[in-house]
Amino acid sequence: MRIGVLTGGGDCPGLNAVIRAVVRKGVGVYGHEFVGFRDGWKGPLENITMPLGIADVRGILPRGGTILGSSRTNPFKVEDSASGASGIDRIRENLAANSVDALIAIGGEDTLGVATRLHELGVHVIGVPKTIDNDLNATDFTFGFDTAVNIAMEAIDRLHTTAESHHRALIVEVMGRHAGWIALHAGMAGGANVILIPEQPFSLDRVCAYVESRFESHYAPILVVAEGATPDGGEAAVLEKGLDAFGHVRLGGIGEWLAAQIEQRTGKEARTTVLGHIQRGGTPSAFDRVLATRFGLNAVDAAHDGDWGKMVALRGTDIVRVPLAEATTELKIVDPNRYAEAEVFFG
Ligand code: F6P
Repeated sequence: MRIGVLTGGGDCPGLNAVIRAVVRKGVGVYGHEFVGFRDGWKGPLENITMPLGIADVRGILPRGGTILGSSRTNPFKVEDSASGASGIDRIRENLAANSVDALIAIGGEDTLGVATRLHELGVHVIGVPKTIDNDLNATDFTFGFDTAVNIAMEAIDRLHTTAESHHRALIVEVMGRHAGWIALHAGMAGGANVILIPEQPFSLDRVCAYVESRFESHYAPILVVAEGATPDGGEAAVLEKGLDAFGHVRLGGIGEWLAAQIEQRTGKEARTTVLGHIQRGGTPSAFDRVLATRFGLNAVDAAHDGDWGKMVALRGTDIVRVPLAEATTELKIVDPNRYAEAEVFFG
């Protein structure tokens, strides 16, 4: 069998470990052939390919990013204006032109959503879940999350000493538009005093009161805020418009806004560190390398078995196959009980 492999959506430490495992087992154990499609769904859409043999995956296990490149292209949203061919027609043509029988798509909600629709249209697809946000419902963990949490934790560790030295409130803004998993885990691991997540709108009054009380006990507070966290009440509308409390265009995100609010309301100095894409770059942790490798091995097994329309997932310590559709129906958000555990430090 000849199998195409692609990586879509935001990059994530561990993507190369998946690709390596797929190719090593697929070629070495099953004797299949592989072709890489470049830049997510753009590859099969525009017929941009690269060789993907054993030699091409040598040495990539510790490398961040993806040797295949990535994009957020959605073939269901494009049409060739000259020929009128839909994105799906073009994908079918290019799969046939490359003699590709099946696709292994490694991606998050959007990439796997496309994979699900392609499967429903009869294309042979297997999915592998990926996101640093850990918010895919069908799997207990996604690779990339552990690495991102470790990067954020190290940043928090370093911020403790400078917060204490300067008697400042220090805010760390981490990724997570819809789910606060990175904030929750990095905040707990790093001993943050306040953790703010998108699932639970926060009371600015309560945060400021806590900051003041913490300073009264002679300690500088560390606050971790997910990029999608919002204050409850009226301030949320201000944030949505991208304006600050004075009606000015906000250059930073929620972290900068919070620092300004804390300074105004408490009179204490506050600073924000936005970790941004640092959380997505660089070498994967051991946990992510192992999980990504196991996902890759199991994905190629599923393809070999012709078990189309499935996604590999972690359940407990086992890798299982679940219907692709399950991966994208609902986001996995932070449970209030998990958040309550972290709130113990915010009293
Ligand atoms: O979905 C992963 C993610 O890292 C989000 O947490 C973040 O909001 C987003 O990607 C950033 O995407 P981009 O790299 O396109 O700015």
